[in-house]
Amino acid sequence: MYKITKLGVLTSGGDAPGMNPCIRAVVRTGIYNGLQVVGIRKGYQGLIENDMYDMGPRSVSNILNLGGTILKTARCLEFRTDEGMEIAYQNLKAQGIDALVVIGGDGTFTGALRFSKKYPDIHVMGVPGTIDNDLYGSTYTLGFDTATNTVVEAIDKIRDTADAHDRLFFIEVMGRDSGAIALRAGVCCGAEAILLPEKATAIDELIENLKAGQHNKKSSSIVIVAEGDKNGGVYDIARRVQKEVKVYDIKVTILGHLQRGGSPSAFDRVLGSRLGYAAVKALIKGHTREMVGLQANYIKITSLEEALTEHEFKLEEDLMEMADILSI
Ligand code: F6P
Repeated sequence: MYKITKLGVLTSGGDAPGMNPCIRAVVRTGIYNGLQVVGIRKGYQGLIENDMYDMGPRSVSNILNLGGTILKTARCLEFRTDEGMEIAYQNLKAQGIDALVVIGGDGTFTGALRFSKKYPDIHVMGVPGTIDNDLYGSTYTLGFDTATNTVVEAIDKIRDTADAHDRLFFIEVMGRDSGAIALRAGVCCGAEAILLPEKATAIDELIENLKAGQHNKKSSSIVIVAEGDKNGGVYDIARRVQKEVKVYDIKVTILGHLQRGGSPSAFDRVLGSRLGYAAVKALIKGHTREMVGLQANYIKITSLEEALTEHEFKLEEDLMEMADILSI
């Protein structure tokens, strides 16, 4: 069986709370099992720029509670090219690194899959880390819980002022291709409507629902719009609604990158630790080109191929149906 000796760890793509607990678990599990561990800065960019350093148990002291990623992250275009990958491979070989844990979302996994097919002698395990919660193979991804809690806290505050002024707020939350945060936060905050990339909402229908809410004596209304919704963006939607729903004073808030920061929740700390631990154990057992995920509270391993191509992530139908009914 392939025996690994030196393990590299990196975070790539959008940072997510829970990445640091995961790095800590990878480093300490690797060292406990007799591996050398190397931290790679700025994701795939660090592989290309040979920006790496030896890590020990003390390199990851007191980081469980930190948001962001101590390894830093980047979206690296050069790694998408054959030349970039070759440089990365040569750097890894020169360092004697024979296995990688890559923590990130679908872009990160796409790179990992291509790289691992080209250079199968470097074993690769993925850990799903993205606030978007949109990877097949894990019910939850790192950062989703913390980001959702951050959004809920923010929307609760907006509800206070919306209610005080009898206003209608349109609030944009993150999720380029995913309505996961929007849907959960919508249920938590009793949003009057939730606009998702996964489900088309006709603006006429939205207007009718908001008017019905007024008729039912709602003093304030909150419409959550996921970034990836197909209706043309939150300002455009707000303008179209304002023309028809005259009684409400309409405001727009874009929550933006505050959703990505903050101390990881207890859930994300446990998830990061479990997934990091499991990724290293899987590499030691000879796994490669796969990712570790959480399914029904058990660690499950899914091939990167399957995680990326065969299945589309789906939002919970019952939450969508329930959210509409509970906000009448
Ligand atoms: O993938 C996570 C995410 O936060 C998306 O929800 C969002 O669309 C994107 O990253 C924003 O990326 P950037 O920080 O590079 O603008």
